Amino acid sequence: MSFDRAIKIAPSILSADFANFGQEIEAVEAEDADWIHVDVMDGHFVPNITFGPATCAAIRPHIKTVMDVHLMIAPVDPYIEAFAEAGADVITAHVEAGPHIHRTLQAIRGAGAKAGLALNPGTQVESVDYLLDMVDLVCVMTVNPGFGGQKFIHSQVEKVRKLRAMIGDRPIHIEIDGGVTPETAPLVAEAGADVLVAGSAVFKGGSVANPAPYGENIRAIRAACS
Ligand code: DX5
Ligand code: ZN
Repeated sequence: MSFDRAIKIAPSILSADFANFGQEIEAVEAEDADWIHVDVMDGHFVPNITFGPATCAAIRPHIKTVMDVHLMIAPVDPYIEAFAEAGADVITAHVEAGPHIHRTLQAIRGAGAKAGLALNPGTQVESVDYLLDMVDLVCVMTVNPGFGGQKFIHSQVEKVRKLRAMIGDRPIHIEIDGGVTPETAPLVAEAGADVLVAGSAVFKGGSVANPAPYGENIRAIRAACS
């Protein structure tokens, strides 16, 4: 996984057909997706449940690009090894998920994955202070985590701008997660984000049998940022 700041579109399989993840992933990758975003929810840290490491391992062979695993679970530490073994390239944990995020980030890199740190909309950007040398990605949540299809929270654009300044020359991706559309994407791209997660805005109107809309949706987001 090489580092660059070019805009990358990461479809979230939260909006895909849950009975057909393998083919859905192959369809969005064939339609220009840059990364595949995998939302893991536990019904405790967030009010929704998705799936765990076994599903991640099962979909891994279908991913040719980057498997970007977003853990919305607490506790996190007991499961890091399992998600790394499932083949996650990036494992992102929430700063709000426990008292020992520093240890969690160490454990993610120790397990051989890139370390991501996610911030809920109500969390101060300064919470990444003292952690920037331990992370490969910071995810700014632009909705409250738990569900796809929510409205983009505009106050987070300023957070992205501050974060971009704090990061400076460090090779750290800024990821945006939630409510990304061709209307909101340019706001965060201009503020310094490079990885744009999009669930409903990518999968709407298409299917495995009719994947062309996936490509149109991905290219519309990308074009809006250039
Ligand atoms: C929300 C998830 C997101 C979600 C985004 O908790 O972390 O990845 O799938 O969905 P949209 O793009 O529909 O807001
Ligand atoms: Zn996510």
